[in-house]
Amino acid sequence: MPPRLTVIGTGYLGATHAACMAELGYEVLGLDVDEAKIERLHRGEVPFFEPGLPELLARHVESGRLRFTTSYEEAGAFGDVHFICVGTPQKRGEYAADLTYVDASVRSLIPHLQPGALVVGKSTVPAGTAQRLADWIAAEGPAGAELAWNPEFLREGWAVQDTLHPDRLVIGVPHGGRGEAVLREVYAPLLDVEVPLVVTDFATAELVKVAANAFLATKISFINAMAEVCEVTGADVKRLSQALSYDTRIGGRFLHAGLGFGGGCLPKDIRAFMARAGELGVDQALSFLKEVDAINLRRRARMVDLARELAGGSFAGGVRVAVLGAAFKPNSDDVRDSPALDVAVALHQQGAHVCVYDPAANANAQRLHPQLTYSGNAREALQGAHLVLHLTEWREFRDLDPTSISDIVALKRIVDGRNALDKDRWRGAGWVYRALGRP
Ligand code: UGA
Repeated sequence: MPPRLTVIGTGYLGATHAACMAELGYEVLGLDVDEAKIERLHRGEVPFFEPGLPELLARHVESGRLRFTTSYEEAGAFGDVHFICVGTPQKRGEYAADLTYVDASVRSLIPHLQPGALVVGKSTVPAGTAQRLADWIAAEGPAGAELAWNPEFLREGWAVQDTLHPDRLVIGVPHGGRGEAVLREVYAPLLDVEVPLVVTDFATAELVKVAANAFLATKISFINAMAEVCEVTGADVKRLSQALSYDTRIGGRFLHAGLGFGGGCLPKDIRAFMARAGELGVDQALSFLKEVDAINLRRRARMVDLARELAGGSFAGGVRVAVLGAAFKPNSDDVRDSPALDVAVALHQQGAHVCVYDPAANANAQRLHPQLTYSGNAREALQGAHLVLHLTEWREFRDLDPTSISDIVALKRIVDGRNALDKDRWRGAGWVYRALGRP
């Protein structure tokens, strides 16, 4: 009999993991404490934007292979393997990660576990968490129940693809446990097609995840630091990045200069990593991440300055700014720590009339920042604009024809915050085109 799986927490990570495990052929039960969310998933609806996921979810809800519940009792009775996929947000007013949801989900599950059940942590946690949870399970769980740590590396916007075709699998297990064998069985369809597997201890598995995100954040901030230097030397960071990318030791991915990183992962993960290093007495080892964070936030401030400069030195007096993009990146409706929204809010605070349009994130943005104006499409947002800011590089914005929108704006001025538009085309159509790190 193949193992039966539960997925605890049905956000971006959990809903995707649940649907993908059903796609691999398993019976899956998803659990969340949010009844409204479970109700929607039950009906086969994905409560957020993720390309490819709605089709996958609907197919497996329809077939009956994927079900949802709010009951830990039902989850415990059903599952042989329980994946913990709840969020670990940044604590309010602190750098450290808030482990409330991880702790609560494991605590709630323990009394209902079957003997021999495997609990698998996928949430991003500070090193040391897995051992603490394993101790709880050993002390309070049924005979033979164990913990394994299996970090997740999926990107929003590519979540289904990244789960079904991951670059690697990492499994953290204590010496002599059964977790490795169980997870080898669960992931057999991926291992059969040669997905690399690294089996390690708990602490290494926890660290792989935060180290990967810290490296990606560092790479982005590196090129954005170069952009700062480009701005005072007249150099072009896009060309610089292209030239660096041909060196295969460096590579071109995550080397796109612009408004920098945001979202629910990279910013809070580097901060939580620094906080944990401080607790462990090795804060110096990660002090460079403070600079990575600072470079990243400086890009947002620079964008506001550049926009104000283009607006003639002030936004007062009803300067109309069209903001294209609110999500932290394209193909997502996630506005957590979104650089685009941060800039939009700063401009509003400085007196601009800001009109935002995002193909997927308007509703989430509006909930967070109702003080801004939102448009249902790009043309409406651009109407009468004195300045256009391109802040999230959706394909729809890259495809905008600068000539055909020339007569709906009041002034043909654009700042390309993502270095993703064709500079020559915009300038050729008579626009003042400015970008971060480029002449
Ligand atoms: C990130 C990691 O890429 C995933 O591997 C990881 O699993 C995930 O966090 C997580 O911890 O759950 P994600 O937050 O979905 O994934 O987004 P990314 O694609 O990494 O982009 C993060 C931010 O960096 C975005 O705001 C994006 O616009 C920005 N970025 C990315 C750049 O500014 N430049 C680049 O070259 C690449």
